[in-house]
Amino acid sequence: MNVIDLDDVWRIYAEGAEPVYALQGVNLTIKPGEYAAIVGTSGSGKSTLMNIIGCLDRPSKGTYLLNGIDIKNRSDDELATIRNKTVGFVFQQFNLLGSMSALKNVMLPLVYAGIPGKERKMRAELALKEVGLENRMHHRPNELSGGQQQRVAIARAIVNRPSILLADEPTGALDSTTAGEIMDLFGRLVVEGMTVIIVTHDPETAGRSNRIIKVRDGKILEDIVMGKVS
Ligand SMILES: Nc1ncnc2c1ncn2[C@@H]1O[C@H](COP(=O)(O)OP(=O)(O)OP(=O)(O)O)[C@@H](O)[C@H]1O
Ligand SMILES: [Mg+2]
Repeated sequence: MNVIDLDDVWRIYAEGAEPVYALQGVNLTIKPGEYAAIVGTSGSGKSTLMNIIGCLDRPSKGTYLLNGIDIKNRSDDELATIRNKTVGFVFQQFNLLGSMSALKNVMLPLVYAGIPGKERKMRAELALKEVGLENRMHHRPNELSGGQQQRVAIARAIVNRPSILLADEPTGALDSTTAGEIMDLFGRLVVEGMTVIIVTHDPETAGRSNRIIKVRDGKILEDIVMGKVS
């Protein structure tokens, strides 16, 4: 079964005077354990596509099956529950809380999930270990490098054990060496069975994934899987 299955998905922003056709009939399937990069120029629809994949937004038209579940038939509350269980998010600007230690930042999603205190700490420590930050757990974000802050954000995204990790420009604020390390870390999560989808402007970063999905004008222009073009 596909983890992600979009069939003729459209997203039309109709708030303004002129409607914006951000996605125009996207067909896309992603299997468990894929490591895919979405690329394309600014305004091509990458974030719109990620928001739909992550159930932060719904298609205006077309069908989206997440783990075989048609999200159209789900209420907003049901969708939020599905999202919290299934998807982890990572952003370009890390979005960490500056007043809290790395450990506390990573524990936060477990607070919302109602996990008891002791288990919260154990699981957060494990996630930080997984991203190689066991020696920085009690530092605050401003005491960490950009790459380290992104690792904290990744630990926070995986602490609930989601099956899908979505990252919109996760390396956009990092130098190329650090960006490579973050991509390698995603690669390890993929080996452990996670499905990872990133958005990037950088061809070198995209080249470290196993599949490159090129978007232009809200359509998929090209889809290259490990040297295979379709
Ligand atoms: N909430 C919104 N309301 C109206 N139009 C929007 C909204 N969000 C995005 N758009 C428009 O939809 C199109 C696609 O935007 P999107 O953010 O998906 O592009 P992107 O590929 O992520 O660009 P970037 O690389 O700059 O992040 C753009 O024309 C954008 O202006
Ligand atoms: Mg974007």
